Amino acid sequence: MDVVILAAGKGTRMRSALPKVLQPLAGRPMLAHVIDTARALDARRVCVVVGHGGEAVAAQLGDSGLLSVLQEPQLGTGHAVQVALPQLPDADRIMVLYGDVPLIGAGTLRRLQAAAGGDALALLTVTLDDPAGYGRILRDASGRVTRIVEHKDANADELKVCEVNTGILVAPAARLTDWLSRVGNGNAQGEYYLTDIVALAVADGVAIATVQPDAAWETLGVNSKAQLAQLERICQRNIAQRLMDDGITLIDPARIDVRGELQCGRDVEIDINCVFEGRVELGEGVRVGPHCVLRNAVIGAGTRIEAYTHIDQASTGAACVIGPYARLRPGTVLGEAVHIGNFVEVKNCNVADGSKANHLTYLGDADIGRGVNVGAGTITCNYDGVNKHRTTIEDEAFIGSDTQLVAPVRVGRGATLAAGTTLTRDAPPDQLTASRAKQVSIPGWKRPLKKQ
Ligand code: UD1
Ligand code: CA
Repeated sequence: MDVVILAAGKGTRMRSALPKVLQPLAGRPMLAHVIDTARALDARRVCVVVGHGGEAVAAQLGDSGLLSVLQEPQLGTGHAVQVALPQLPDADRIMVLYGDVPLIGAGTLRRLQAAAGGDALALLTVTLDDPAGYGRILRDASGRVTRIVEHKDANADELKVCEVNTGILVAPAARLTDWLSRVGNGNAQGEYYLTDIVALAVADGVAIATVQPDAAWETLGVNSKAQLAQLERICQRNIAQRLMDDGITLIDPARIDVRGELQCGRDVEIDINCVFEGRVELGEGVRVGPHCVLRNAVIGAGTRIEAYTHIDQASTGAACVIGPYARLRPGTVLGEAVHIGNFVEVKNCNVADGSKANHLTYLGDADIGRGVNVGAGTITCNYDGVNKHRTTIEDEAFIGSDTQLVAPVRVGRGATLAAGTTLTRDAPPDQLTASRAKQVSIPGWKRPLKKQ
């Protein structure tokens, strides 16, 4: 079986420069969701029909082994499928999917595929309380499908039908090619309707099967930002349900957003309003406090991420305590039992086991050994305005509060830097280094008095 994904529509109602099918759902383009589902079906080939913003869509597809074809102008859904067919020579069966119907499930599609067998036409239909706008499925007295009528072409009786066409179907390829060559555009929209193949199939004596989706929301399409938001909620609800099925504790499954892939070990607990982007791995027993953002991060077992922490392209070892209000930026690699506290920013640093920076600190481009204590208000001056330089702090060093380390510079093993030090040369191991001006007290000094 080959899959054709229709994605040529304008998406006018999105009011966006980004083509509709590239609008993100759970952090990935809608179209990517549909492509993944097609792949899950072991489709032999997948051909995406692009139109408006076709270059952007094609660029997004990259060299993923997908076929794409430009439909210009767009003369209707039947025309769109017809444009794709030459890309799929020797096809046996064709499934038609839609780039703006992103939540369609592989389970439903497998049943549709099975219902089509080798030579039937299988339609995915759904019964709606409010069928307005959709094509209606018309059946004869014995319940056999006779044709589909579009809303704009339907009469009053036909409009009462609540079983509607989702647009998704599986058809025998040779028949489909023939039917599409016979479809005309004499209808209310002046379009070549894919739906018109149904009446032609009936006339040709081809069996027509209908299948209903596992869940009605699978067939929801996106035409507006409001519908996109509605599908985002459904998608997030499904992700949250899967996480809970896997044993993850979510304090509120309605308040988590996963925009990528979240992998969790056992007994992970996630508090409210956390956002996970890209690929995030949480080890066994990790606890994530409320309002955290984690993007492309690996968090070691037993680590606690406290409230309002932001982690981007960083990793921690086991049993760390991060935050509240910490920021781990790209290139941060923390060992085990590292503590990074409030208002501490760490970028492109290695911090070895048991080291702590608990308050108000900037660590950038540094290699920090084991058991180091970084006092409050410490700053690595890593940037001279042109180049970045590294700071090295060896094991067991103690960095006094309010210290500036002017890189490149090295603090030796077991060294102590006095509070307030501005370190411009290396500090030798095991010694106290201080750069403070000597403290003076002036006897008899008086505060100035206000002039009368
Ligand atoms: C279509 C169906 C209708 C069904 C409904 C379900 C037809 C004629 N009608 O109607 O029975 O109930 O979907 O949502 O098929 N597209 C192209 N090229 C085109 C035209 C459309 O790629 O020339 C794509 C659009 O981007 C869109 C999809 O096909 O993703 C459906 O097109 P649209 O015009 O929205 O169809 P509907 O009028 O909603
Ligand atoms: Ca239309």
